[in-house]
Amino acid sequence: MIKLKVNIDKVSDFISKKEINNFRNEIKTHFQSILNKTGKGNDFLGWVDLPNEISEDLISKIEADAKKIKKLAKLFVVIGIGGSYLGARAVIEALSHNFNSLLPEKEFPQILYAGQNIGEDYLSDLLDILDKNDYALAVISKSGTTTEPALAFRLLKNHLEIKYGKEGAIERIIAITDSKKGALKHLSDKEKYSTYIIPDDVGGRYSVLTPVGLLPIAVAGFNIRELINGAKEMRKFILSDISSLNNPVALYAATRNALYRKGFTTEIMVNYQPTLFYLTEWWKQLYGESEGKENKGIFPAGVSFTTDLHSMGQYIQEGLRNIFETVLSVENTKKTLKIPEVKEDLDKLNYIAGRRVDEVNKNAELGTTLAHIDGGVPNIKITINKIDEENLGQLIYFYEMACAVSGYILDVNPFDQPGVEAYKKNMFALLGKPGFEKETKDILKKMK
Ligand code: PA5
Repeated sequence: MIKLKVNIDKVSDFISKKEINNFRNEIKTHFQSILNKTGKGNDFLGWVDLPNEISEDLISKIEADAKKIKKLAKLFVVIGIGGSYLGARAVIEALSHNFNSLLPEKEFPQILYAGQNIGEDYLSDLLDILDKNDYALAVISKSGTTTEPALAFRLLKNHLEIKYGKEGAIERIIAITDSKKGALKHLSDKEKYSTYIIPDDVGGRYSVLTPVGLLPIAVAGFNIRELINGAKEMRKFILSDISSLNNPVALYAATRNALYRKGFTTEIMVNYQPTLFYLTEWWKQLYGESEGKENKGIFPAGVSFTTDLHSMGQYIQEGLRNIFETVLSVENTKKTLKIPEVKEDLDKLNYIAGRRVDEVNKNAELGTTLAHIDGGVPNIKITINKIDEENLGQLIYFYEMACAVSGYILDVNPFDQPGVEAYKKNMFALLGKPGFEKETKDILKKMK
């Protein structure tokens, strides 16, 4: 059942109903282009039907591999960057205990991440930990050529082979990559690693429901069937009515674009639950990489409240007025905690004694929303019932579809990322990569 709701009551001081409704027909056309695969980037629409197409065989293989890893390893390193990293981390962190790494008894391997940076200290510290613990890893790269994960994998493969021998290392490596091309594909074939394929028509940031996300999520001990089921439910719900703004995707896409056209060029995704930090990071990548091109696009930012009210709150309340907020609100917490009454009320908190911590959080949420509206910040609210696999599956599919529709409203290709190449070209030129001789000469001249 779909419990996700989009509420736009609190944008009415800034944009009219008409300005939102104006998008209705256009959005229907965009839905049709997505479904009929006739729009920009139409060779990357595999994610649309993905929830319905994941086979029982694939789910069972992932579950079996997760079980095998559980027996072999205390730690599981997920090597990947961007879309080959953030989806898995978003779901795992959202579902995990806030202090998972400190829990004394762990039923499932703890997930660590590598290949998402080039920090020498980070990688050295990781190797320190891996020296002392049994581990296995997944190396994830669709292109199979991305420098950051390739570098991390080289280090960890070497480490595994020294620690467990060649055969032992092979047993502990899973590669998730393209079906045909890329250095990782060739290496996996040569070394005979257990391999999963990322479908050709699913881009990195839309790949959380492929083995890219599903394998690490299953290893972490979460129910991938429920996650897929949530996405399936949302897909059915959204596609059952593509003509009206009762459709939450249409409503969100229309409202954020109406705001953008009025000069609200930054969208801040707000969460009030610390475990949602990486979900915001995933959303930032999804929207930033999909929309930010051709000198257009809403800038996606993220904050975790109430923490960031004490750092970014001032700016949001009174800074440049080009921002709107989208609050991801969670109706029900996983646990219940009441504030104790104390005899000497020195901290003056007895007025909330007996009430739940979440009630305070909810009032902070409402109070902040009202203050920000008074300060000139329009507010969209997305509500989910609770943080579990089913709700996350619904939310992921909702965000993906809304991103594709929004990209088409902007008239960009939401499925490519040509701008990401610019830094890579400079880095290769500076490092003297073979084949980049001319770029090396040019960049050195530029730097003089
Ligand atoms: O969304 C994307 O396509 C990117 O963020 C990629 O996922 C990221 O650049 C990593 O690419 P790859 O999986 O090819 O290593």
